[in-house]
Amino acid sequence: MKQILVRSFIRFKSSLPPLSTLEKFNFRVSTHTINQVNENIDEYLNQPIVLNGHLNRKPRLMAKNSFAEIRDSSGNSVQLIFRPESTGEKHFQTIESSMVEESCSVEGLVKLKETRDGSKQWELLVTNYQRLNESNLDAARLENLKHTNPQDLPPHFRYLQLRSKKYQDNLKIRSKLSNLIRSTFIESHDFTEIETPLLFKSTPEGAREFLVPTRSSNLFYALPQSPQQYKQILMSSGFTRYFQLAKCFRDEDLRADRQPEFTQVDLEMSFVSSSDQVQIVVEDVIYQVFNKGAELPMYIVNEKGNLIELKNFNNDKTQFTKLTYQDALSKYGIDKPDLRFDLAFKNLSAYFTNNNEDFPIVEACVLKQGLVDGKIPKALTDSLNYNRRKPFVIGIKKPADIKWYRKFVEKGILTLRGEETAIDNFLSVEVGDIVAFSDRMEIPYENPTPLGKFRQLAISEYDNKWQRPIETSEGLIDEYDASKVFVGSWVVDFPLFNPTDVSNGDEAYPSYDKSNFESTHHPFTMVKTEDYKKLSSDPLAAHGEHYDLVVNGVEVGGGSRRVHDAKLQQFIFEEILGIENYRQLFGHLLDALSMGCPPHAGLAIGFDRLCAMVVGSSSIRDVIAFPKNQSGVDMVVESPTSVDEKVLKEYFIKSL
Ligand code: AMO
Repeated sequence: MKQILVRSFIRFKSSLPPLSTLEKFNFRVSTHTINQVNENIDEYLNQPIVLNGHLNRKPRLMAKNSFAEIRDSSGNSVQLIFRPESTGEKHFQTIESSMVEESCSVEGLVKLKETRDGSKQWELLVTNYQRLNESNLDAARLENLKHTNPQDLPPHFRYLQLRSKKYQDNLKIRSKLSNLIRSTFIESHDFTEIETPLLFKSTPEGAREFLVPTRSSNLFYALPQSPQQYKQILMSSGFTRYFQLAKCFRDEDLRADRQPEFTQVDLEMSFVSSSDQVQIVVEDVIYQVFNKGAELPMYIVNEKGNLIELKNFNNDKTQFTKLTYQDALSKYGIDKPDLRFDLAFKNLSAYFTNNNEDFPIVEACVLKQGLVDGKIPKALTDSLNYNRRKPFVIGIKKPADIKWYRKFVEKGILTLRGEETAIDNFLSVEVGDIVAFSDRMEIPYENPTPLGKFRQLAISEYDNKWQRPIETSEGLIDEYDASKVFVGSWVVDFPLFNPTDVSNGDEAYPSYDKSNFESTHHPFTMVKTEDYKKLSSDPLAAHGEHYDLVVNGVEVGGGSRRVHDAKLQQFIFEEILGIENYRQLFGHLLDALSMGCPPHAGLAIGFDRLCAMVVGSSSIRDVIAFPKNQSGVDMVVESPTSVDEKVLKEYFIKSL
């Protein structure tokens, strides 16, 4: 029998809060939300209702009527009126000592509010005000900031930020989209949702991983960078269509679109003979998210280079605009071009040489009528944050500047190859334009290229300029708000391997070791059939069956057909990537492939990026409840933290 020890005398460090504390647990639950009343004020006029929420503004106490404001979980707020005759003395006393952000339950009558502009609004004439929990001075001091820029509230008060309408709306949209994505996979495409382990194994997959120590000497789990290997093993487990909203972990430099912990919409399909089979499903998911989930139209680029709205999802063929890696880089200088804008580069190599064998392609980007008040906007040159060579940027201010290249020829930066008139005809530069030029490799491993960075800067510097017209049955629309237009595209035909970058970072040109290869994406990507033999003769010339999903210049997802032949996968690990201990690292996968694993392909969508795009934000922190900051710190709980030496010992870890 268990012995029960009763302590006869307990000494506390603090005293038990008074019995009146229990009042906080006994209150009237809301009968309505502010939104419900907003939608039909007449129906509720003079009716008693109960609202639960937070005090949104500091109470204003007056001799006759006093005012406050309640905000409920919809993020909406409404004015509270306190009148001695209806509210009663007790509640007045409560409100006198109230602090902004305390939680409350308020009963009252819905009344019409007088407004200056004559619009119909309501307020609540309070009959009963109950404080459910006090707030404090910190919340009171931050009141103004809360009403202007909730995202600027101190990050350790994330819960105050999250109470604002912006974050309430964002996280509700995120929840709605995950529901929509699940139902699209399960109901329209017969997928099975399967969870894979978060305690995984350390294997090289691209980024640095987070290790999890165990209480066995030198044995670690690793948190998954993605469920890639498990999902391939699932394909060998008889599941033909898998998906999951998966947590992924990567210990990499953080930016606005990167978190160390993020969510992927991950999928894999077996018996797939062409990438299109995966892309069709993904296009439907993306189409549902934008069109049905967010009521935002999706567009593609047609053969004339105009945007046309995608009206229907087609389950027979892919519809998003497709472009090859080589095209993306030579036209736009980046593998995730923002196709809302035209602004394609012109290859000048037929007219000039830069006498640089490794970076022989000379190319230009012309900003038609880009001069502002006769000058190059400062941002185009000063903000060009590129630690390598910057493109040369020239303003065509007078007719003589049309021969902008003469200066560079004189200085020996360019050597003329053709006739000047041929160049002038090809570029057709006019007074008012800006010309930027730079150079790149034939297969640009530099991504973005210097000119690619310039193009991105130009797009953000000029509001809605150079956007492609939208083609409709009534004609072309040139002027529109580009932030409401979403262009779906696929970038394909990536090089399967990259040479290792061996530059030290500050030279003008990067340098590569062309005898050492890295997978451009991950080592499980299949080579293009036509390049199969190049795997043994010239791996750098081989293209992969990889496809990236790009929307408005954001890499929303990436995937590929996989190597399902164990011997071929082993050859890639061992002979091309030089992974000597491939058996120890990837034996589980090779074994699963070798037992009749069917041909398969898949993709993962960055769910945080997708949600950020839908809510119109450039930062995924806006759609994550508790994001980490730039240094990987969670400011609310203050993680990571150090742990006791005694605990470290249990894990066989010594701090230095
Ligand atoms: P990939 O590494 O391209 O592919 O990741 C897929 C998508 O995930 C998003 N993403 C991120 N989002 C936020 N923070 C990050 N640190 C972060 N890193 C990536 C991007 C990206 O397109 N296993 C493969 C997929 C596959 O081949 O099926 C993979 O993980 O939107």
